[in-house]
Amino acid sequence: MFVTVLLLLGALCAHKGHGQESEATQRPGHVSVVIIGATGDLARKYLWQGFFNTYVNQVKGGNTFSFYGGGQSSSDKATPLMFEILKGVSCPKDMSQERCALLKDQFLRLAQYRQLKTLEHYQDLAKHIEKKLQDEAMTETGRLFYLSVPAYAYADIADKINQSCRPTMGGWLRVVLEKPFGHDLLSAEVLASQLASSLKEEEMYRIDHYLGKQVIAKILPFRKENKKFLDPIWNKHHIERVEIVLKETLDVQGRMSFYDQYGVIRDVIQNHLTEVMMLLTMRLPSNLSSSEEVVQNKLRILDSLLPLGKNQVVIGQYQGYNSEVQLELNKTKDHISLTPTFAAVLAHIDEAQFEGVPILLISGKMLDKRVGYARVVFKNDIFCLQNQNGVHCKPRQIIFYFGHGSLQYPAVLVSKNLFKPVLMDAEWKEVTEHSDVSVLGLPVSDYYVHTPTKQHEAYSELIAHIFSGHKNSFISIENLLSSWSIWTPLLSSLNSAYPRIYPGGEDNGHMLDIHLKGMDISYKNEVVIISPDQTAGTSANSAKVLQGKFCNADMVSAWSEELVGQLAVDMQEAAEAAVLESGVFHLALSGGSTPLALFHRLALHHFSFPWRNTHVWMVDERCVPLAEVESNFRTLHDHLLHHVRIPYFNIHPMPVELNHRLCVEEDRGAQIYESDIRTLVNGSSFHFVLLGVGFNGHTASLFPGAKVEEHGQSLVALTESPVKPHQRMSLTFTAINRAHRVALLVMGKGKHEMITQLSRLKNSTDRWPVTNVKPDNNRLVWYIDYDALIG
Ligand code: BG6
Repeated sequence: MFVTVLLLLGALCAHKGHGQESEATQRPGHVSVVIIGATGDLARKYLWQGFFNTYVNQVKGGNTFSFYGGGQSSSDKATPLMFEILKGVSCPKDMSQERCALLKDQFLRLAQYRQLKTLEHYQDLAKHIEKKLQDEAMTETGRLFYLSVPAYAYADIADKINQSCRPTMGGWLRVVLEKPFGHDLLSAEVLASQLASSLKEEEMYRIDHYLGKQVIAKILPFRKENKKFLDPIWNKHHIERVEIVLKETLDVQGRMSFYDQYGVIRDVIQNHLTEVMMLLTMRLPSNLSSSEEVVQNKLRILDSLLPLGKNQVVIGQYQGYNSEVQLELNKTKDHISLTPTFAAVLAHIDEAQFEGVPILLISGKMLDKRVGYARVVFKNDIFCLQNQNGVHCKPRQIIFYFGHGSLQYPAVLVSKNLFKPVLMDAEWKEVTEHSDVSVLGLPVSDYYVHTPTKQHEAYSELIAHIFSGHKNSFISIENLLSSWSIWTPLLSSLNSAYPRIYPGGEDNGHMLDIHLKGMDISYKNEVVIISPDQTAGTSANSAKVLQGKFCNADMVSAWSEELVGQLAVDMQEAAEAAVLESGVFHLALSGGSTPLALFHRLALHHFSFPWRNTHVWMVDERCVPLAEVESNFRTLHDHLLHHVRIPYFNIHPMPVELNHRLCVEEDRGAQIYESDIRTLVNGSSFHFVLLGVGFNGHTASLFPGAKVEEHGQSLVALTESPVKPHQRMSLTFTAINRAHRVALLVMGKGKHEMITQLSRLKNSTDRWPVTNVKPDNNRLVWYIDYDALIG
């Protein structure tokens, strides 16, 4: 028989410092918990235990509970399996055996398994819940669905829940989702929009279990409690570097079908380690309980990260991985997986507070030790002439130690030569008795050490937060998409990159040591060990840059990365020459996605570029407000201008918005821009104009059919595009052809067809506007990558 046990739930929301009153305490009633995937690995290891802990902790409130395990299997098959798991849950150490037995017995009686496969199954569950509420005259507090199933099943389950299982009498609905939430920006957006058609954002709880780890949850409170010590030193003048590290010793056998598609960056760096990085570097919220403020501050930090590309990462793969993949995924012997099981990423925050501070995010499987920590290493400006072991001469660091490793317990450690921290929290205590261990280079006795009085499992913490509706510990949709937009370009740049093969465990020796060189990261030891079967397909001359002729002009060709590198070098040379000669460099840049790689290259590699003497002009603009994502200026701003030190008054967006309207002839925007050019640019000759070519041969915003003489001697004109947004403002051929130098950048297989057609044209024609680009002094160079040139 299914018995309802009255639970006393007063403590349910008494999570210290959350500052939010629980809905459960406001409205005692009945809570139905449904774990879908009830006999899976996660449920077995953590979820049932987490729900039991919450149940045990809440024995003083007024709510009642029922627990349903759900899944695809029939009830006959799954019920015994599920109860086997339930019987294994454990009680807190300090609980008497009798009490433990009683609570476990109650918990088991409150639980049942239900097959949840079809819509009818969900409808039956809803009917069952409603009947129960009616029979026992209970009001409903809410329904909690925990989706512990592969992400591809989310949309379908969410739809069924929405159709059939919403509480009818005003109780809440909370649906908990486990990562992965997509594998790149696009798939995350697709998943988000599918889920949004069934569930409201406030109903979704996206779990990142790292946010439930006690030490990680303590980062912001620690920063607040120790604000007076940290404020003066939490910046680029004092911090040498930040490291966020998760080292694991296990392999990934048994999880290949997931892991081989995801790899270490998607598995733990995009989520767990990025979250920790944000907690360390975000502006301290004035109210730690305000979800909105926390999310906004996190987003600000993500937005200010410098772009991450191939040079900001090194990857590795443990030696046995490929054969494990072949075996577990039934692949043939010649199958090669390039999935990284190790990665070290170097990030930088483009904000005055942390400018230039290296932030390392490192994780790997099959490493020498199991340990997770975030450490902030401070510069030490004390020079000890004699007693170099004296306390002032030692490294100065703050460590958030997640657990495992030499210390074996989670802790916050502050070097004694920094300050004595305050932890205003009865749930934390200072450790003064130290064993003889050393933590990241210092004996533990050299730190002030604080640890939680009671250790809680991350999932149990988060489950309690779900009940209390405390959303700070979960991933908001803005946060998720913003994080993917940082990681997606880096992941795409690694698409066909070869990971360094490492033997695993202690044998890795120095093989995974890394070297930071300015904004770039590389392996310290240059020896790259690639197993013989992994050498196929590498190109011996992949780094070559070819010089040649295209359409009667000079051409540079290479693989895209080298090509962009060469163009950036050529642009810097032109800039330096112009500054030497006239003290100023006038650069006109075009929009579109092709130049993004060039912008990143300039921002991340060309620190000596004379930005202070550079004026940036637009080649063309779409008639949309400048802050919109479609605006060329907005793209240029986000990918280049935002990251370099260029004086504001040297930046010249096109005035497409005047008198609160867009590109209206009478507002004379084109003439205003032209007049600025004539005033500032000597002879109206830009030093360097960067152009692209569209599929139809258009360049700037000069589209097929536009006559070369159409704009006479005007330098700027309003034009019409065949694709939306139709209205544009553009430099004319007159302005372009007056430039000292013009670069035409063409990249990607998609442009091959157009390049082939162009190469066959004998003369310039208005049908192919790009053929009318003929700078007077013949200083046109085509930069065409191999994909576009050879297809
Ligand atoms: C999970 C990853 O999210 O986190 C695993 O999928 C990883 O690959 C685990 O091992 C690490 O978590 P913890 O809590 O053991 O450090």
